[in-house]
Amino acid sequence: MRRNPGEVNVLVTRKFPERGMELLKDQGFGVSVWPGEEPMTDKEFLKEAKLSTALFCTLSEKVDRSFLEECSHIDIISQFGVGYDNIDVEAAGELGIPVCNTPDVLSDATADVAFALMINVSRKMFWLHKSIARGEWKYFRPGYGLGIELRGKTLGIFGLGRIGTEMAKRCKGAFGMEVIYHNRNRKAEAEKELGARYVSFEELLLHSDILSVHANLTNETEGIFDMNAFRKMKSSAIFINTARGLMHDENDLATALQKGIIWGAGLDVTNPEPMESDNPLLEMENVAVLPHIGSATTETRNRMSELAASAIVSYYRGERIDNIVNPQALDIKKRE
Ligand code: DGY
Repeated sequence: MRRNPGEVNVLVTRKFPERGMELLKDQGFGVSVWPGEEPMTDKEFLKEAKLSTALFCTLSEKVDRSFLEECSHIDIISQFGVGYDNIDVEAAGELGIPVCNTPDVLSDATADVAFALMINVSRKMFWLHKSIARGEWKYFRPGYGLGIELRGKTLGIFGLGRIGTEMAKRCKGAFGMEVIYHNRNRKAEAEKELGARYVSFEELLLHSDILSVHANLTNETEGIFDMNAFRKMKSSAIFINTARGLMHDENDLATALQKGIIWGAGLDVTNPEPMESDNPLLEMENVAVLPHIGSATTETRNRMSELAASAIVSYYRGERIDNIVNPQALDIKKRE
């Protein structure tokens, strides 16, 4: 039997938008919100989780096998975020703990950031903005701060899921870009709708003018954009990563930019996070870096909060949950 809401204590690991908390409280769930601004330490997280029945968490919480084995009493984990590489989903599945995430609701906001980074890098905007503060705007200089145009260029998408598709739509609509992509599976719909062409990883590297990363972080994708990959790219190419920083080797990226192996880079995710304030990438002309704010609009964060909370509500009501990433978990521990 699943517990009644009144018997459930949801550990909420940060001050997430109120919408989700209100939804849980309105349904009679007990909600404990960690009051700190900073993430909990692993020790604090474990201690609090032991006192809880459900988790509402995000990417900074390490939910690995050993944590899960100590907290196998947890009924459900609802992640505020589309990515869930902080959670050992396989171990959770084996223990019968469903893991949910917040897909779809953040695709537009995140694609907007990828698109904005691309334009900002192509016109050196972050660097030029800072040049005013450096006192460099004295008179019109015809050859100063020149960027590159995007019209008619080839967009390469690594990971054509929901966010990658939104990025492709923007690039095609605004700049008439040709779209090529590399993915685990071919996407017939995107091929039809966007005229997107499936290519090998090697071809993606060779032919992209803009290469935008939207894949999940897995053992196969970790570190895939290293010097070996950058060397295959065009020297005029722009590398964009709004997915996970661990997919690129940041030292290799800095070297590739310094040596002109590729032209520019726009990052919303870095490796490691947070990026140190003296990172040489921050001083480069053709680089724009943001502090992992892909989904950071009020509307999107409210929707993420609601969706993460709804999964918990649906679980205890025994209703179908669409955004569950390990559905096999529901078959393992028969609680009903
Ligand atoms: C996501 O939703 O995965 C974002 O990167 C924030 O974690």
